[in-house]
Amino acid sequence: MRIMREYKIGVIPGDGIGPEVIKEGIKVLEKISEIDREICFRFETFPWGSEYYLQYGRMMPDDGLETLKHFDAIYLGAVGDPRVRDDITLRGLLLKIRQGFDQYVNLRPVKLLEGIPSPLRDPRKVDMLIVRENSEGEYAGCGERLFPGKENEVVLQTGVFSKKGTERIIRYAFEKARKTGAGVTSLSKGNALNYSMVFWDEIFEQVSRDFPDVPAKTILIDAACMMAVMRPEEFQVVVTSNLFGDIFSDIGAAIGGGMGMAAGANINPERKYPSMFEPVHGSAPDIAGTGKANPVAAIWAASQMIEFLGEEKWSRKILAAIESAAVQGMISTPDIGGTGSTEGVGEAVCRELAKKYL
Ligand code: NAD
Ligand code: IPM
Ligand code: MN
Repeated sequence: MRIMREYKIGVIPGDGIGPEVIKEGIKVLEKISEIDREICFRFETFPWGSEYYLQYGRMMPDDGLETLKHFDAIYLGAVGDPRVRDDITLRGLLLKIRQGFDQYVNLRPVKLLEGIPSPLRDPRKVDMLIVRENSEGEYAGCGERLFPGKENEVVLQTGVFSKKGTERIIRYAFEKARKTGAGVTSLSKGNALNYSMVFWDEIFEQVSRDFPDVPAKTILIDAACMMAVMRPEEFQVVVTSNLFGDIFSDIGAAIGGGMGMAAGANINPERKYPSMFEPVHGSAPDIAGTGKANPVAAIWAASQMIEFLGEEKWSRKILAAIESAAVQGMISTPDIGGTGSTEGVGEAVCRELAKKYL
C-alpha cells in the first residue's frame, strides 16, 4: 500500500491582492500533489479579514485560534483595507496569530533569482536570510494613551525585550547560520536605545560565545540600511528586533526584485502551534482586482511551508521552477517590468514544475 503524506492547511486569503496571490500558491501545491501522488494537501479556507470585520465587527471569530490550532500550517495572503483602521485589522488577525501561536521567528529569505531585475548596479550577491524577532519588542502592543484629546495628552509605546525572547531568537539565528556555514549579523541601535538595544547587544555577545565557529558582528540599523543597498554581499544571516526587522525586510524585498518577490515564514520552532506562511507584502489596494499582482512571494512562501512540513525536496523544486520561469521571462507581472498577469505567472511556475518533474 502506498503511504500518503497528508497536510492540513488552514488558508486565510484575506484582503486586497491576498486572495489573488494565494490562489496561485495553491495551484502550485496542487500541481505538486499531481506530480507526486504520495503528497496530498487538504485545504480549508477561512473568509476572515476586513470584509468579515465590516460584517461581524471582528477580524475572525473569537475561537479562531482554537480552530486554526488543528492545522499543520496556516497559509495567509494579506490583511489591510482602506475602509478599516490598520491597527484594528492587523492586531485583530495577523499579529493575533503570530503572537497567539508564539511564532517568534520570522524568516524572510532575500535572494535575487536569476532572470529577475534588481534596482542595484551590481546585484549578483544578494543572498541573505533575515531572522526577525516576531513575538515582542516594539510590536508587543504595550503602552498607554493618557488624557486623550486634552492639551497634556501623552502616549507611550513600550518596547518589550524579555531575556527569554531575545535569547531564543538570537540563538535560532546562530543555529541556522551554523547549518549553512554562514555568518550572523545583528542589527541594533545600542547607541540611542539605551535600555532595549543595549540589552539586545549584551545577549548577542553572550550567545555568540556559544558559537565560536560562526562569524558574528553587529551593525547599527541605520548603517545596515545603507549597506544593504551599497554592499548587500556583507549580509548572510541577519538577526534583529521586530520593528527593525520589519523595515529591513522591505529593503531586502527591494534589492531582491521587489515586494512581489519577498516571502516570509512565521515559525513556532517547537511545533507546539502551527506556523504561518505569507508573502511579506500587504494587500496592495492600489493594484487589487487588476490581475497585476506578482504571486511569486506567495508561491515562495508556500515553498517555505512545505520545507517546514518536511518536503525539503519539493520546496527546492518550487524555487527552481520559479527561477527557470524567470530566466525565460515568464515572471512577467508589471512590477518585474512585464505585461503579464498574476494567473499567467502561477501557470508558468506550474508548467516548469511539470516540465521538469512530471
Ligand atoms: P503593500 O505591500 O501592500 O504595497 C506596497 C507597494 O508594493 C504598492 O505599490 C503595491 O502595489 C506593491 N506591491 C505589493 N505587493 C505586490 C505584489 N505581489 N505584486 C506587485 N506589486 C506589489 O504595502 P502598503 O501599501 O504599505 O500597505 C497596504 C495595506 O496592507 C495596509 O493596510 C497595510 O497595513 C497592509 N499590510 C499588510 C501586511 C500583511 O498582511 N502581512 C503587510 C504589509 C502591509
Ligand atoms: C509585515 C507587515 C506587518 C508587520 C504589519 C502589517 C503589522 O508589515 O509582515 O512585514 O509589521 O509585521
Ligand atoms: Mn512589513
